[in-house]
Amino acid sequence: MAAIVTPTNLTERHPELGAGPLPSDPYWCDAFHQQELEAIFRRTWMYAGRVEEIPEPGDFFVKNVPTFEMSLLFVRQKDGTIRGFHNVCQHRGNQVELASKGNCRRFRCRFHGWAYGLDGRLLGVPDVEGFPELDRESKGLSEISVATWEGFIFFHLQRKPEWPLDEFLGQQAQDLVGYPFGDGLNYFQFEGEIQCNWTSMIDSFCETYHVPHLHHKSITHTLAGPDNPFGRLIDVRLKGPHRTMSVGGNGRYTPKPVQALAFRHSAGPSVTSGGGGSQETLPKGLNETRAPNWAIDVTAFFPNLIIVISAGMYFTHQMWPIGAHRTVWQMRGYLRSAITAAERFAQENSIVELRDAVLEDANTLERVHRAMRQGLVPEVIFHDHELGLRHHYHTVVDWVEKYCSSEQTGRS
Ligand code: FES
Ligand SMILES: [Fe+2]
Repeated sequence: MAAIVTPTNLTERHPELGAGPLPSDPYWCDAFHQQELEAIFRRTWMYAGRVEEIPEPGDFFVKNVPTFEMSLLFVRQKDGTIRGFHNVCQHRGNQVELASKGNCRRFRCRFHGWAYGLDGRLLGVPDVEGFPELDRESKGLSEISVATWEGFIFFHLQRKPEWPLDEFLGQQAQDLVGYPFGDGLNYFQFEGEIQCNWTSMIDSFCETYHVPHLHHKSITHTLAGPDNPFGRLIDVRLKGPHRTMSVGGNGRYTPKPVQALAFRHSAGPSVTSGGGGSQETLPKGLNETRAPNWAIDVTAFFPNLIIVISAGMYFTHQMWPIGAHRTVWQMRGYLRSAITAAERFAQENSIVELRDAVLEDANTLERVHRAMRQGLVPEVIFHDHELGLRHHYHTVVDWVEKYCSSEQTGRS
């Protein structure tokens, strides 16, 4: 087994980001958060779901966006395209579709029975003679911008986004083209509200400095071992506002008995199984240095989507701020269909291992946030291998500063 090689100068590669401590305000300041909403969350593409969830015309799913308390409706059209709408009846504002997913020919509001087509047009109004001035054409569902990349459905709250999706996702997305995302036909999901700032939660998935300590009862030994006692990363690549962290596995890990059974039957190497898997078939952007001990890549798409990818499975995290002090975390893992009961068992094992590790992160972040909010941590300090956190920090602050100064210029 070759000893793991970890770079020692990640921060030096990016002198533009500096190397020193930074003010902690973006992690807890209410006024800053209000600016983030306008400067970032209303101006960027957000992930909603996968195309496999709605394969047939009339298939739909509803996506809740906690940051804006919005419910969005994504619908497969008769021509095969996907469109998205605010899930809001134009009569008096009731939520039109209450189910989280399904198939239908039209959407009917349960308040007074107004009906909308798959394309959002207002089709039916009970006792329509009672609305002599109703302009049906203008009372369809309010449409949002939708685009897809490799089967991931994204939405944008602006009717005319400042950047097309491909341009916004940039190099990082191009480098992942070809990964079999579409094979993950089954999914599991967790959702929870964490009393912390959204950036803290993004941070916790972009560094592995904490892995040997925080996760010592769960995943420490699959990721960090004698060859890599501090849980250093294999690599960090910054690509515009996005970034990829490559994480090594501990090839010397000896699984516990039940775990060993699960690993033996998993359809591909799981995130917690200490790496492995064929690397020839990986797209360029995964394990870009082609390290032999590679386990997973954490691909963070600005602002709030993280796709964690291994050779055998992938899962997404989304962090939705509700103010500066609360975050709704949505996690969804995508799995290939299990052929045997043993494979299904292996998948279940991965699911609970991942859940336990994430709960360890969440629990800690609530304590961290209390201290930040009390002003007891005036500066944040980043390790060389926490370059991804420094990058996210600067990206957020840059977006806010540029937006605020352009707003000021526009007003003056
Ligand atoms: S609010 Fe939907 S029909 Fe009245
Ligand atoms: Fe963690």
